[in-house]
Amino acid sequence: MTRDEARQAAQLAFAASNEEIGLGDASSLPLPLDQLLALDETHPDVVEAHTGGLTGFVYRLRTSHGDWNIKRARSSSLVQNPDGQTSFLNEVQRRCELEALGNDCPAGVVRTRYASFRKGLIVSPWIEGEIAKRWDERTLSSLFDLLVDLYLRGFFEWDVSPGNLVDDGTRLWMFDFGYMYRFDPRVDFNSNGLEALLFHPAERFETRNYFAVLLEQEKAQGQDAALKDFVLEKRIALSAYERLVSGLRAMNASSAVIDQFTAIIGRWTRALREDPAALYLAEGWRSHRLDLDDDLRGQTCTRRTLARTDWLLDAVDQHFDALRSLDAFFWHDVGQSREALLDQLAADRENAVRWQIVT
Ligand SMILES: Nc1ncnc2c1ncn2[C@@H]1O[C@H](COP(=O)(O)OP(=O)(O)O)[C@@H](O)[C@H]1O
Ligand SMILES: [Mg+2]
Repeated sequence: MTRDEARQAAQLAFAASNEEIGLGDASSLPLPLDQLLALDETHPDVVEAHTGGLTGFVYRLRTSHGDWNIKRARSSSLVQNPDGQTSFLNEVQRRCELEALGNDCPAGVVRTRYASFRKGLIVSPWIEGEIAKRWDERTLSSLFDLLVDLYLRGFFEWDVSPGNLVDDGTRLWMFDFGYMYRFDPRVDFNSNGLEALLFHPAERFETRNYFAVLLEQEKAQGQDAALKDFVLEKRIALSAYERLVSGLRAMNASSAVIDQFTAIIGRWTRALREDPAALYLAEGWRSHRLDLDDDLRGQTCTRRTLARTDWLLDAVDQHFDALRSLDAFFWHDVGQSREALLDQLAADRENAVRWQIVT
C-alpha cells in the first residue's frame, strides 16, 4: 500500500464512521449556525458566490464585523477519485492542524474561525485582494516563503494553482487545503515519502501555475521575455530552497532529503550561471508533460491543454537531443525515440481535442 492509499483508506474509514472533526465555537460565528448551514447566494448579505467548485460552495458574507468566507461542502464531491471524495475532510483536518500551530502558523495561511466535517461547514475571514496573477519579486518571494514555511512544518501543498492563491497587495494567502497532505520533512521528500522525487514545492508552482503564465508570455512577448521571467522565478526559488535546506539541517533531517535539495540547488545554480535556456527547456518539459498527463487522466482538457501539447511537440521536434542530455524525460518517456515521442504526443493531442470541456 502506498502512502497515498493508506491516507485515502484512513480518510474513507473516518468518513464512513460517525466521528466528528472540527474546531471553533458555534457561539462565535458571524451568523447563527442554522443560517450558515442554509446559506446560499439568495441571502442579502452574500456579496460574492463561487459555486463552480467541485467539492464545495464558497460565499462571501458581509457583516458589521467584516467579510467572511463561508465554505459549504457539496453533499458529494464531483471529483470521481478518492482524493476528490475526501478533499473536504482533508481540508478540515489540515485547518485543525494549522490552527493548532498557534503563533507558529505561517503568515499567509488563512485563519479558521469554525470548521465541522459532519456539518460540512468552514468559516474563515475573507481575504481582501485578488487572485495572484502578477508575478514579480514581491509575489514570488511571498509565495516561496509560504511554501517553505509550510514544508518545514510538514505540510505539502499539491494544488498551487491560480484559484488557490490570493494577493492582498502585501503578501500571498492560501485558503484551500483540499489537497494539502502531511509528511515528515526530516525523512520524507513530500507526502509520498521518497517515492516520487519529481514533486517538490517549486515544481508544484511551476506545473500548476507558472509554466502556463510563461506559455502565455512566450506568445505575447516572445521567448526572451519568458526566459527572463523564468530566471527571476528560479532566482527566488533558489534562495527559498537555501533557507529550506538550512531549516532541514537545523531539524537534523536525513541526508536522503537534504541531498535531494542540494542537488536541485546545484542544478539551478549552474544553470543560472551557464545556460538558463536549457533549464527552461527541461523544467518546461516536466511541467507541461505532468499537466498534460493530469488533464488526460481526468479527461478535463482545455485550450491550454492543446497549447501545452503543441509546446511539447515542438520541444521534441526541435530539441530532442538537448532534452535527452538534460535528462528531462521521465516515466514512460524514458528511452523513447524521437519518433515514438512525436507519435505519442500526437495521440495525446487527439485525445485532448476529444476531451475538451467548456470553461
Ligand atoms: N478566504 C478567502 N478570501 C478571499 N477569497 C477567497 C477565500 N476563500 C476562497 N476565496 C475565493 O473563492 C474561490 C474558491 O475557493 P476555494 O477555497 O479555492 O474552493 P474550491 O474548493 O472550490 O477550489 C477562490 O478561488 C477564491 O477566489
Ligand atoms: Mg480551490
